Amino acid sequence: MHIGILTGGGDCPGLNAVIRAVTLALINECGARVTGIRRGFLGLITQEVMALDVPAVAGILAQGGTILGTHNKCDPFHYFGAGGADVSDPLLAYARALGLDGLVVIGGDGTMAIAHRLAQRGLPVVGVPKTIDNDLCHTDRSFGFDSAVAVVAEALDRLETTARSHGRVMIAETMGRYAGWIALEGGMAGAADVILLPELPFTLDAVVQRCRAREPREGYTLICIAEGARETGHDMTVAQTLADSPDPLRLGGVGAVLARQLQPLLNSEVRATLLGHVQRGGSPTPFDRVLATRFGWHAAQLVAQGRWGHMVTLEGAAIGNVALDAVAGRNRPVPTDHALVAAARGIGVSLGDNA
Ligand code: F6P
Repeated sequence: MHIGILTGGGDCPGLNAVIRAVTLALINECGARVTGIRRGFLGLITQEVMALDVPAVAGILAQGGTILGTHNKCDPFHYFGAGGADVSDPLLAYARALGLDGLVVIGGDGTMAIAHRLAQRGLPVVGVPKTIDNDLCHTDRSFGFDSAVAVVAEALDRLETTARSHGRVMIAETMGRYAGWIALEGGMAGAADVILLPELPFTLDAVVQRCRAREPREGYTLICIAEGARETGHDMTVAQTLADSPDPLRLGGVGAVLARQLQPLLNSEVRATLLGHVQRGGSPTPFDRVLATRFGWHAAQLVAQGRWGHMVTLEGAAIGNVALDAVAGRNRPVPTDHALVAAARGIGVSLGDNA
């Protein structure tokens, strides 16, 4: 058996842990030959691959990023390198020429959508859910999320020092795209006083009221805002538009916008910090190392059983799997009645919506 592995979309802590687990399980349990595809689907177009064996994956469990490289603009059905042409035929021909019996695809919703289309064209595929945003459907957790939340929590702990010492309002802006999972869990873990999510549009008045109430009492306020959060009646804040990307909008900057709006309305100084790609880099947490390893092993089981066209999932504490078409191209926002939202409200965190 000859199996390929690729990592698509943005990098994420735990990618190497999955590559390691899939490779070792396929070699140990199936006697398979394993080939890594470089830079996501791009490597199947530019024909860049590398052999993956036991020495190749030694010592990579705790390494951030991906030893295979990745790409978040490469859609073979609309390839930027060929003026938007569909290059799936030559891609599939190359996979056949390599002698691949199947492909393990590690990625987020966009990557799963491409994997699903290739599966429909006859390429046997198994998916592994990756994203710090935790916004993939049918899995309670994607690996990388816990690591991102740990960065946000530590950042808030550090920002609180300055907030308290100077009597300031400190704003931390998190990633997460159109879902507020990172801001919600990171904000709760970092004791934010205000948490603003894309799923719950906020009013400036509610945020001002909370900061003003704290000025004479606690003397400082810690705000955790998701990059996709928006004021009621306003659009999300776009940092950049990448015309050549299948997902062209890059969000960012809403924290700085909020700081400028709040400053004239408060006595305290207001500062904003954009956490950015710091949340995506570095070594995975122990939770993510274990989850990525469990996902990788389970993906190898699906390959061994010939259960193609499925993505590995985590439901509660149990690893399972779901058909790729149920996840491809879909997002999973935070339900506004989620237990953690209720807990936040219950302990007095403002979600900016006056509820
Ligand atoms: O999907 C992961 C993510 O990190 C989002 O949270 C963020 O909006 C986006 O990727 C940033 O992408 P890029 O690395 O292209 O700036």
